[in-house]
Amino acid sequence: MLHSPVSDHLQYEPYPNLELLDDWLVSTNNLTLSILKKMRPGDECVPIENTLNPPFWEFGHLTWFHELWVQRDGQMSKPSLLSNVDHLFNSSEIAHLDRWTIAIPPLDALLEYNVRVMDKTRQLLTKSIDMKKAYFIQLSIFHQDMHNEAYAHMWQTLGYPAPFEVFSKINPIRKETHSYIHFPETTLIAGSERNSGFLFDNEKWSHTIQLSAFSIADQAVSNSDYLEFIESPTNQANFNPVAPPVHWKKDGGRWYQRYFDQWLNFSENEPVRHISFSDAKSFCDWHQLRLPNEHELTLLMNQSPAQYQPSHLWEWAASPFLPFPGFSPDPYFDYSKPWFDGNYQVLKGWSMFTPERLRRNAFRNFYQPNRSDHFCGFRTCLL
Ligand SMILES: [Fe+2]
Repeated sequence: MLHSPVSDHLQYEPYPNLELLDDWLVSTNNLTLSILKKMRPGDECVPIENTLNPPFWEFGHLTWFHELWVQRDGQMSKPSLLSNVDHLFNSSEIAHLDRWTIAIPPLDALLEYNVRVMDKTRQLLTKSIDMKKAYFIQLSIFHQDMHNEAYAHMWQTLGYPAPFEVFSKINPIRKETHSYIHFPETTLIAGSERNSGFLFDNEKWSHTIQLSAFSIADQAVSNSDYLEFIESPTNQANFNPVAPPVHWKKDGGRWYQRYFDQWLNFSENEPVRHISFSDAKSFCDWHQLRLPNEHELTLLMNQSPAQYQPSHLWEWAASPFLPFPGFSPDPYFDYSKPWFDGNYQVLKGWSMFTPERLRRNAFRNFYQPNRSDHFCGFRTCLL
């Protein structure tokens, strides 16, 4: 059966009922507004870094994105409620550095724009909508969820107070020594199927993967595991030893870890977080272990939670972010395609700042291997 790539997104059925979509819209937008409300004077001035965004620019951007796809049919030729928005907030067009210098409207105007855009969609949700509207409303909600999470890791980088309550708590690692779960050779259905609800284009399409037998840790690498590694004579003797994570400090012979604006006692049995892919790999090399690939992680996540311990951190996979067979970009063309250049690694799972609605086993997150500012960790496989 032939499927036109242009209309793939019209087949992501079923979609949630209108009441649920309205709930999601209100909850993601209220969360964004509460993040902004909790900001202290001056918090909007963030240093120019690749991993950061000016917070008010990011707010304008997520409202613009919603209006463009839900209310302007993705066409910039159609009018917006705010003048000049396509020039100001199109992340595909504006160089990252320019986000600091471009003259954006004052916060009051951005707030008014946001309220008007969201009210307009809420009006739509009081009537019946078609598949196309349902798709773009979900896309905009999930896009905003991702930006809310980006505020969380930006606030962590900057040492600001926590922007919002976690959706789930990190559990301490249950056992001191890792157990490895052995999976015999098997087949796995990777990706997402048609008519399985909303999906992102990089999940197209489901296909069979032949997996060799492997053994994967039932829990993530802990703070104490990682400390042992960085303090090991082998690491210390390296020309370029792996440094402690940036949110750790040693004071008076004791280690502390920073969670937003608070220095906390070092918790040995928590999953280690804010580790780059490159440093996770070094840890594995030192232990003569390896990182799991994305399919191995997916198979693990398909098991019941009683069989393994989720880390509530994005977990690095050994897999570079590449298209699945049959990939074609969806209307938001820049979601995946520009990043299939081999310079990004897949992460699976979710973090404690990811809402439940985005926690799907087929979801593929991706970051550059040197990034560690997001809430990420890792688990290992036996060689
Ligand atoms: Fe965005």
